[in-house]
Amino acid sequence: MHSLTASSGPALVGVVRKDWASQNSIALSWSEVERLPSDIVDYEVKYFEKEQEQLSYSSTRTKAPSVVVTGLRPSTVYVFHVRVRTAAGYTAYSPNFEFATVAEDPDIADQGQVLVVVTASVGGFSLLVILTLFLLITGRCQGYIKARMKSEEKRRTRFHSGHVPFSGIKTYVDPDTYEDPTQAVEEFAKEIDPSYICIERVIGAGEFGEVCSGRLRIPGRMDIAVAIKTLKGGYMEQQRQDFLREASIMGQFDNPNIIRLEGVVTKSRPVMIVVEYMENGALDSFLRTHEGQFTVLQLVGMLRGIAVAMTYLSDMGYIHRDIAARNILVDENLVCKVSDFGMSRVLEDDEPEAAYTATGGKIPIRWTAPEAIAYGKFSTVSDVWSYGIVMWEVMSYGERPYWEMSNQDVILSIEEGYRLPAPMGCPVTLHQLMLHCWQKEANQRPRFNNVLSFLDKLIINPSSLLTLVNDVQSFPDSPEDMPDYPLFISIGDWLDSIKMSQYKNNFLAAGYTTLDSISTMSLDDIRRIGICLIGHQRRIISSIQSLRLQLHHIQHSGFQV
Ligand code: ADE
Repeated sequence: MHSLTASSGPALVGVVRKDWASQNSIALSWSEVERLPSDIVDYEVKYFEKEQEQLSYSSTRTKAPSVVVTGLRPSTVYVFHVRVRTAAGYTAYSPNFEFATVAEDPDIADQGQVLVVVTASVGGFSLLVILTLFLLITGRCQGYIKARMKSEEKRRTRFHSGHVPFSGIKTYVDPDTYEDPTQAVEEFAKEIDPSYICIERVIGAGEFGEVCSGRLRIPGRMDIAVAIKTLKGGYMEQQRQDFLREASIMGQFDNPNIIRLEGVVTKSRPVMIVVEYMENGALDSFLRTHEGQFTVLQLVGMLRGIAVAMTYLSDMGYIHRDIAARNILVDENLVCKVSDFGMSRVLEDDEPEAAYTATGGKIPIRWTAPEAIAYGKFSTVSDVWSYGIVMWEVMSYGERPYWEMSNQDVILSIEEGYRLPAPMGCPVTLHQLMLHCWQKEANQRPRFNNVLSFLDKLIINPSSLLTLVNDVQSFPDSPEDMPDYPLFISIGDWLDSIKMSQYKNNFLAAGYTTLDSISTMSLDDIRRIGICLIGHQRRIISSIQSLRLQLHHIQHSGFQV
């Protein structure tokens, strides 16, 4: 073993523990080192196959004192050691620790890799034959094979022990496995001449700098609308690498429902990432500003697009970790595309929902599966959980999941078995699919290809969408179990808080004087007291659901009045 970077100082990491292992992944953690957190830049985890020690190694970085190392071979012993990067440089490595992945289980698809094999066995061979014929006919075979060999060779040096997983099938390559991250950018992103980019206006602020809209005018090509992410001046090399990392991920994908990378500018300043422009911006705010304006079929169409992207990503072995409506962009034709590929390693600091977990990771709690929150077990089925939350966000026109409940209460409620109720006007089948995505047991959740074919069936047979969950959904407890003490807030204050104070007299005249009596109201009751506008019904029903959640939580946490 050797290191390209000299180490100095004693090893600050002592014991490295294995938290869990699957066929292709091992989760590790170690004690936080006794230094000011601001002194620690990150941890570097180096690992190699025990049998192949002298051949090659891989490394990955993490800001938390834990990591999930993915892309490993089943039934294989790996050697791990960890060192700390401080502002002054690297410390020495911890001692070596040996941990093994588990044996192959044909029934369980780990990170979509079984799906890759299936896809490959069905379509791969015929595609290969067609491609070879095409290349021979057009005389491009030699150049292609050379280029392919070169890139395979590079890949072999990155995957320890020369093992290329599923060669011939497109799998995601983690840019962190490159010794030099610049190589990953060169391999997966085209360099754009900055004179081809015309910046028009600033449309937002990212973690690394402004996000602008503009035009990309490549000679001989039609010009296109683009969004341009910029890296603001005065950055450190590490920030430049973190910024460009997203481009090396995005550049590996080619799917109609994934934001397309046009290219990067790295050879001049400012450094930029150029992607296709999405006219309607982020899905959450788009839905909020168009509340009640789409048919159920249009909403399901949006969800289908996201499921297409997620099926593709899981087939490639990529785990997104931050699937949420805020990270989906919408184009002028309502096509939804998955974006924000910054978080596959650690959460970006500009993620507004990021919260620290007990294990030190930063996670958007209300979108994240319980096993990922509890012990960092991210997988394609933890992405499925998040997808279920996106379904709920879409069907409720951008409502905040679990409303204003605290992150800690969300975690406790999920643990108790609570799940988000169906938004008003949501077809029963869609809510059932959400509940399926939110199964506590990860292996019981559907895979993305199941979700996609289910949605396709609904779209082909729209009558299946006609049965709506037409009531405020009940909890595991019946309304009779609700506490009979009033919440300490008046009906007037409650209606003010949801900007519906014009209906105060409707509630009072019908005898609803306490919030706990309101918490048992059904949609029919809301209509009966004279609230006819669908948008207003939606807002009131959503708030009643939130009240019921709070009551349920108060009851379960043993709150006494
Ligand atoms: N905001 C961030 N990325 C964007 C994009 N590609 N199009 C429009 N708005 C964006």
